[in-house]
Amino acid sequence: MSLEQAAFERVQRLVYSLAGIVLENGKEYLVEARLAPIAKTHGFTRIEELIAQLDIKPDLIAQVVEAMTTNETSFFRDHRPFELIRTKIMPELLLKREERRTLDIWCAACSSGQEPYSVAMLLHDNFPELASWRVRILATDISSAILERARCARFSQLEVNRGLGAAQLVKHFHREGLQWELKPELRNMVNFTQLNLIANWPILPTFDLVFLRNVMIYFDVETKRKVLAKLSERVAQGGYIFLGGGESTLNIDTNLERVEFENSACYRVASPSSNIAARP
Ligand SMILES: C[S@@+](CC[C@H](N)C(=O)[O-])C[C@H]1O[C@@H](n2cnc3c(N)ncnc32)[C@H](O)[C@@H]1O
Repeated sequence: MSLEQAAFERVQRLVYSLAGIVLENGKEYLVEARLAPIAKTHGFTRIEELIAQLDIKPDLIAQVVEAMTTNETSFFRDHRPFELIRTKIMPELLLKREERRTLDIWCAACSSGQEPYSVAMLLHDNFPELASWRVRILATDISSAILERARCARFSQLEVNRGLGAAQLVKHFHREGLQWELKPELRNMVNFTQLNLIANWPILPTFDLVFLRNVMIYFDVETKRKVLAKLSERVAQGGYIFLGGGESTLNIDTNLERVEFENSACYRVASPSSNIAARP
């Protein structure tokens, strides 16, 4: 039997107000698929019973919201941004930050960790001079459950097959039963913490590089505008923001400008004196 409309609408309102996620009409099947395991765990036979309990047991709310997030990710996802960082952006940042010798990087919706660990791998393998710098990679997500997984840094064969070459796998992971565990030297480069992009942000450093990839696809234009406005205050001069492959600032009122490279593009905060024409 399909999900009752009132229960679906309750979930729609909940995920929008607490996570900014727009759950379109017609996605009842998704709610059913995602919430059925939670309902079962708590001994409910129907999802409607779980939804009805949300007012009485608020601890269930976070579980419901987290279950409605999509955690799809992979190592070196989309490949080209990482190539751009390796060949152009990091050499530029190494020069710009040469005196200060610090680098702050933020993966702002990091899911199970493949993205920040890819950054750690890239820096470790290509820029040995950073060993004498203070490099911080902050990785955040709304979901405490996915962050728990990310911190463990254990990945299945299928997960490592997505984006990692054999040489990288052997160099940076060791086998733990059926899983591959990332070695501590890379794990320790990443600091995971919970952060909801649409709630108040804690005190954050100014970042040289930000990954805000494949999360704003779930937000409406107004939420995207607010998140990007806040983010632009946290990006250092000369810093860059990467959005997901299919994402852009088109139709969003921001002070970011798109910077085109041969095969890829990213964003930076537009300065009044910038001679690059701001494009959406
Ligand atoms: C599709 S994954 C993207 C992972 C990674 N950035 C990538 O591109 O491979 C989207 C992530 O955004 C997180 N997310 C959704 N809404 C969020 C919010 N309001 N604040 C922070 N993270 C959020 C989800 O929990 C999920 O892990």
